[in-house]
Amino acid sequence: MAGIAGLLRVFFVGREDGFRARSRSRWGGTPSARTPESADKSQFEGGFHDVLASDELAEGEVVEVFVDGDPVAVCRVAGVVHAVSGACPHAQGPLADGSLDGAVLTCPFHGWGFNVRTGECLVDPTNPVPVFKAVEREGRIAVGSVVPAGRTDGPPG
Ligand code: FES
Repeated sequence: MAGIAGLLRVFFVGREDGFRARSRSRWGGTPSARTPESADKSQFEGGFHDVLASDELAEGEVVEVFVDGDPVAVCRVAGVVHAVSGACPHAQGPLADGSLDGAVLTCPFHGWGFNVRTGECLVDPTNPVPVFKAVEREGRIAVGSVVPAGRTDGPPG
């Protein structure tokens, strides 16, 4: 029974050592407690939400943050920060618990891969993941609005 309970816990809550668990412990057990209002937004404008310190996101790492209550998977590829919805468009799998290989983030549930720069789904091109604007400045990372389809998530003009 403990095995089944453990599997169910991993399915619904995530691994104890997974990224979601790290997010939970980082923000005192409640990711949503890390609201944009609790961070210094002074260096960001235009609706960007301060979500992480730069040193909390290593190269090739994915961290789940919450913006307005919604999960966002923030990752660093070749030194550049990217942000995509944390809910997989296939069946709402936790993308921040997926694996990142280059710019491809693979969902832990059914293995769909997504290009974090464009949102393109490598399995079903009709199901891209929303891409958010992401900026890094003065040691902080911020997430903005969704990038319109067909555009990449480069810094705002
Ligand atoms: S929920 Fe992500 S691939 Fe199925």
